[in-house]
Amino acid sequence: VVDIGSLYKRTKMFTYDPGFTSTASCESKITYIDGDRGVLLHRGYPIEQLAEHGDFTEVCYLLLYGELPKPPQKEEFAHRVTQHTMVHEQMTKFFSGYRRDAHPMAVMVGTVGALSAFYHDSTDITDPHQRMIASLRMIAKMPTIGAMAYKYHIGQPFVYPKNNLDYAANFLRMCFTVPCEEYVVNPVLARAMDRIFILHADHEQNASTSTVRLAGSSGANPFACIAAGIACLWGPAHGGANEAALNMLVEIGTVDRIPEYIAKAKDRNDPFRLMGFGHRVYKNYDPRAKIMQKTMYEVLEATGHTSDPLMKVALELEKVALSDEYFIEKKLYPNVDFYSGITLRALGFPTTMFTVLFALARTVGWVAQWNEMIQDPHQRIGRPRQLYVDAPLRDYVPISNR
Ligand code: ACO
Repeated sequence: VVDIGSLYKRTKMFTYDPGFTSTASCESKITYIDGDRGVLLHRGYPIEQLAEHGDFTEVCYLLLYGELPKPPQKEEFAHRVTQHTMVHEQMTKFFSGYRRDAHPMAVMVGTVGALSAFYHDSTDITDPHQRMIASLRMIAKMPTIGAMAYKYHIGQPFVYPKNNLDYAANFLRMCFTVPCEEYVVNPVLARAMDRIFILHADHEQNASTSTVRLAGSSGANPFACIAAGIACLWGPAHGGANEAALNMLVEIGTVDRIPEYIAKAKDRNDPFRLMGFGHRVYKNYDPRAKIMQKTMYEVLEATGHTSDPLMKVALELEKVALSDEYFIEKKLYPNVDFYSGITLRALGFPTTMFTVLFALARTVGWVAQWNEMIQDPHQRIGRPRQLYVDAPLRDYVPISNR
């Protein structure tokens, strides 16, 4: 009989850390979070400053190259990205294979994975040039594919990218141009969309980024790795929380029902959680949530929705939760997803598209982390251990004797 305990003693020591709450899986220079103080820095720059003064193109460059671009570098980078915004015409056939009512995230997982079949010239991951082409392709094609997923979902023809528009404006146009009417991009809304992309660009070793790194650690095709990240992001505990948060606000409906939902969230026998609240790392206000709240006001103002009843519910819910002993003790604050739903809805997106927008923005973080991992001299295939807790060695019993 094998003594499992002694087997573990004979192997090298390892930690048992469910959920990886205190295990670093890598070294990284991309993003720093101080969860106790509510600080988020990309390459040293505070998220507040990037969101206020920068744009998504600059943030992409910063995450990928480590520095903010100088004007000609920014122009060249934007040009390189826009060169890749089109998808192969054959890709359109992938969409029609899905049921019309498929969730757009299901469509994203499949279609982004399918990119791996189209780009054989950018998959030698040992070649930095090829890695950069693959990275630019993914950043450039995600808005096109996201908009196609949306158009397919609502039964409208695909709208091709217009490369004289910037990243966010181009995406809004591809989503909202209808057959007989070109969408006129409102610069306030395009700026808001751009800022939402900045807020979601990277967040160090969250579940989806860790998934991309783990998938990539085997040397897998980069487009397939991003598809794995999208699959992970979809869950309601992660990127799917923006959709779940808005659905929750709709369900609450009016402020008088807030106490009922607070009570449900506190009830240990009820699986219900306040969606858009709590975070593994932030034990203080998520700095992105504050910027998102400001962006929400701007979008509601620009779209004439300042009396959105859901905003009232959200503001009151936050107030009640933040003064409740349970939320104070557990350090549960609004996260980036709490106000993003109201904002995205006012921009014109249905809830099913919310996580798609998150995936689109997070793609740059995924590819930056993937590139960093491949260049890391300590990089090895990711292979967590386990604690085996069932039967020790035993003899096979023939079926007639069981
Ligand atoms: N509502 C009510 N209670 C909560 C909430 C919540 N939103 N979040 C955590 N708690 C409670 C848990 O029940 C648990 O209580 P216990 O100690 O009595 O068992 C305690 O707080 C700690 O929660 P964990 O689930 O252990 O914390 P973890 O770090 O594993 O989870 C998570 C973090 C998944 C974000 C969690 O707070 C949650 O489910 N929030 C709602 C979903 C959400 O908004 N996700 C978006 C995250 S941000 C992002 O991905 C962009």
